Amino acid sequence: MDWKPSRHSDIPIYQQIVDFIEKRIIYGEYPPGSILPSERTLAKMLEVNRGTIITAYDVLHSKGMVERIKGSGTKVSSDFWGLTRNRIPNWNLYVESGSFLPNLPMYQHIQDEIQERSLINFASGELAPDLTPYADFRHILSQSEFNHSLGYDHSQGNLSLRNTVADHLQEYKRIDCTSQSILITSGAQQALYLIVQCLLHPGDSVAIENPSYAYSLPLFRSARIKTHLLTVGEQGVEPDDIIALYKKHKIKMIFLNPIFQNPTGTLLSHERRTKILELSAELGIPVVEDDPYSLIPFSKEADTATLKSLDRNGNVLYISSLSKLVASGLRIGWIVGPQKVITRLADAKQQVDFGHSIFPQWIATEFLGADTFAGHLNHVQQRLLEKRNLLIASLERHLSDYVTFHAPEGGVHLWCSLKREVNEYRLLEAALRNGVVFVPGSLLGSEKGHMRLTFGRTETPLIEEGVLRLKQAFMMLT
Ligand SMILES: Cc1ncc(COP(=O)(O)O)c(C=O)c1O
Repeated sequence: MDWKPSRHSDIPIYQQIVDFIEKRIIYGEYPPGSILPSERTLAKMLEVNRGTIITAYDVLHSKGMVERIKGSGTKVSSDFWGLTRNRIPNWNLYVESGSFLPNLPMYQHIQDEIQERSLINFASGELAPDLTPYADFRHILSQSEFNHSLGYDHSQGNLSLRNTVADHLQEYKRIDCTSQSILITSGAQQALYLIVQCLLHPGDSVAIENPSYAYSLPLFRSARIKTHLLTVGEQGVEPDDIIALYKKHKIKMIFLNPIFQNPTGTLLSHERRTKILELSAELGIPVVEDDPYSLIPFSKEADTATLKSLDRNGNVLYISSLSKLVASGLRIGWIVGPQKVITRLADAKQQVDFGHSIFPQWIATEFLGADTFAGHLNHVQQRLLEKRNLLIASLERHLSDYVTFHAPEGGVHLWCSLKREVNEYRLLEAALRNGVVFVPGSLLGSEKGHMRLTFGRTETPLIEEGVLRLKQAFMMLT
């Protein structure tokens, strides 16, 4: 809840709370029968005394707007709408019966905590504010001429941006493509969504990595796609496992994040990349390569050749985005694939949102196309390496009794195995109480006893303090 009562108003605080809740009830935001936050929770949310909330709820009760239920708090009255008894839709039923499934509750909980509290953030898969190129953005906004149409644009995305992305892919990833085979999306996330919705059918089977970012997405279940898991080892997934899944479940697509995988940070070995491409061609099933991290290696030696750059048959649908290189809030991503597929996905994107907003596309075109991009990339790589090193040093100094890990060679995530048996969810709650947040491994599909620490999002001076807070959380439980 963003709203807070004003301390400078002449209206008493309890009355401001009454007015606020009354309006929410009247406008249908809190439908009849819905449970209101407990006195303690609401007091915390609004930063007032619990007594003030008790008074506010008493006033609402005397007006007949809420009912007090012994033992279970306060709920909106079922019949305050008066004698005419207007029929109110059963919103709960609607909310539960949609075919698009909600995020996992633990995932929602982490998001809410991050939004509402000031925490040391090892959970969000993005860059820290100290890596966001604000000065470059200000320069673009003040110096570059905006001369694009403000009408609906091409459903594949703005042509200037698609040409710039094609040049970028050629220069940085040796991927040869033209503007016609690119679709601009709202991040890699929308690219995954469109592929699942348009190229698969309810009941189809696909292979995804375990653990993986894809596992955390209800996207597949919403589309009634069956996911089969490929275990991620130190060298990535094992090609033979793909054959086994194909034989057993006739999988129709393989979703991989081969370079600096989220969450394990692993790099699929070159040999396995080649083998997987061979398999894909042999079995005739496409690989969806999700590649947000390949431009963030920590050494020149890291072999970051994407599957797409090695693909000679057109078997790879390639996804990437600016979220981990520039800013996640730009919401710029892309898919590269056969024109037939891109046209189909662009048609779907048009139905979903009539194409991407021109403003982030314009900024992305200017940013990606500028001579300063290479310098920015180098800066991000160096700063992320510093963050990674600091996290590793802090883990070794303070948490070596509790976790083990492999140092990732790129990307933004570090995957930890817990040395002692600790319930990850209780650990998360203890961490939140200490003002730090991470992602429990099982949210990403792993077996018990793992956690993902994302160093990319944490401000550098806070990394060690974050690890100390995690240590306190461990100590509370062991
Ligand atoms: C592997 C992977 N794919 C896709 C995404 C979605 O990123 P975005 O939609 O911001 O580009 C993420 C974000 O964490 C990711 O790690």
